[in-house]
Amino acid sequence: MKDSLTPETLNLVLLGPPGAGKGTQARLLAERYRLTQLSTGDLLREAVNAGTQAGDAAADIMQRGELVPDAIVTQILADRLDADDLGGVIFDGYPRTLAQAEALDSLLVERDRAITVAISLEVHHESIADRICGRFTCDDCGEGYHDYFKLPRAQGECDTCGGTSFSRRSDDTSQTVMTRLRAYAEQSAPIEEFYATRGVLHKTDAMGPIGAVSSRLSACVEEALA
Ligand code: AP5
Ligand code: MG
Repeated sequence: MKDSLTPETLNLVLLGPPGAGKGTQARLLAERYRLTQLSTGDLLREAVNAGTQAGDAAADIMQRGELVPDAIVTQILADRLDADDLGGVIFDGYPRTLAQAEALDSLLVERDRAITVAISLEVHHESIADRICGRFTCDDCGEGYHDYFKLPRAQGECDTCGGTSFSRRSDDTSQTVMTRLRAYAEQSAPIEEFYATRGVLHKTDAMGPIGAVSSRLSACVEEALA
């Protein structure tokens, strides 16, 4: 492992369409390498629930499956980047536009950081609606589950924290999936090229069991650290 790059100095971007498994994989990588997961979807949902000005502005847009304006999301992320000593970071769901990719570069430079690896999760488009529409999450610890692909080991009880209360996202409907996929194709997919030209892009097959995908992602991280 290089002296200059360790998990503590890693800045990893996870790219991929809605439902690709970014949140699932970010949690596993965060645990394995002791990284901080920064999900702009989660930060926005917190802001909506807290009724902040940014949350109020974002709520209807998220419900429709469209992208929240760059300035709002970037400010929320910047606030979180300044909140405490984060160590290595996984960016989950940000950037989603080229303007956000450029903003992230600036935010990181200001904090003596830079993107070290960007991993794009590649999934068959037919599987996306199935993954999204079967998702549910533990209310206590945020662990993600799926009606068919990842059920809790004991019915109704979270594997991670033992919690018994679960929720489904209100934007996880077959109608919003189409809008979210269109937003991804038009605004987010071009970001791959942004990181490819910097020589930090890895493309990973994100089909198959969650554990197998996780092993492939870990191999990308190990390569970046090697
Ligand atoms: P966000 O919360 O980021 O949603 P998203 O991009 O639509 O992605 P998801 O969270 O739906 O999917 P995921 O890739 O995390 O998949 P997961 O691991 O959960 O954003 C929500 C909204 O906020 C956006 O629509 C937008 O309005 C706004 N927003 C957020 N960030 C923004 C930004 N930067 N700019 C502008 N607006 C922004 O997996 C899905 C399901 O599949 C789970 O049930 C899981 O258990 C299952 N699963 C995972 N892996 C596998 C596997 N290998 N096999 C089978 N099932 C699997
Ligand atoms: Mg997610």
